[in-house]
Amino acid sequence: MATKDYIIAPSILSADFSRLGEEVNSVIEAGADWVHFDVMDNHYVPNLTIGPMVCRSLRDYGISAPIDVHLMVEPVDELIKSFSKAGATYITFHPEASGDVNRSIGLIRDNGCKAGLVLNPDISIDVLEGYLDKLDIVLLMSVFPGFAGQEFIDSVLEKATKMRSVINENNLEIRLEVDGGIKLENIKDVADAGADTFVSGSAIFGEPDYFEIIQKMRDSLKVE
Ligand code: DX5
Ligand code: ZN
Repeated sequence: MATKDYIIAPSILSADFSRLGEEVNSVIEAGADWVHFDVMDNHYVPNLTIGPMVCRSLRDYGISAPIDVHLMVEPVDELIKSFSKAGATYITFHPEASGDVNRSIGLIRDNGCKAGLVLNPDISIDVLEGYLDKLDIVLLMSVFPGFAGQEFIDSVLEKATKMRSVINENNLEIRLEVDGGIKLENIKDVADAGADTFVSGSAIFGEPDYFEIIQKMRDSLKVE
C-alpha cells in the first residue's frame, strides 16, 4: 500500500481538554489526517467523555479535517443523528450496542456520513457478514474500549490480516482501522498486518512535539 494512503488519526481522548481546539489544530498542522473522537456514555463503557456539542465546537473553531466519531454508547441511533448534524465525517459503532445494525448503518449514510462497525478484541470478524457492502470502514479494537493508554493486544494483528484478505478478495472499498495502544514501536506491525488507518492517543498527545512523533510514525510506515 502506498504510504500516502495511510491515515493517522490521533485520539483526542488524550488531548488537553481545557485547550481542545488548539490541541486539535496542532495535531492536524503537525501532519495528522483525521481527528478520532471517542464518545463514551458511562453505560456501554464505564467512562464518560464528550458529545455532539463538542464536535460542533471543533467545526465552529475551524477544524476542517475529517472527524472520525467512535461511539462507545448504547443505544446508538439518537447520537448518530446528532453527530451527523454536528459535523461528523465517519461514525462507527459497536454492533452489539444497536438493536438493529442495518437501521443504524442506514441512518449514518442517510445523514451524509460514512459508516463503520467496531469489533472488540474478543469479537470475530464473522459478525460483519451481511454488512460489508454497506460499510466504509471497519474498526478493530486492539484494547477493550473505555480508557486511553492501555497495552496493545497482539491478537488483533491476525484478525487484521484476515480482515484485509476479506476486503481485498471481495474488492471492497473499506478502510481498515485499528484503535488502542498504537505507538511508534508497533505501528509498522499493524500496517504489515493489513491496517491502513491508525488511531493513536497517548503515544501522540503524550509527546511534547506532535510534528516529530507523527513524522517518526510516517517514516516507520515507509520502511519496506
Ligand atoms: C479506547 C479508545 C481509543 C483510545 C486510544 O476506548 O477507543 O481511541 O483512546 O488511546 P491510546 O492510543 O492511548 O490507546
Ligand atoms: Zn476510539
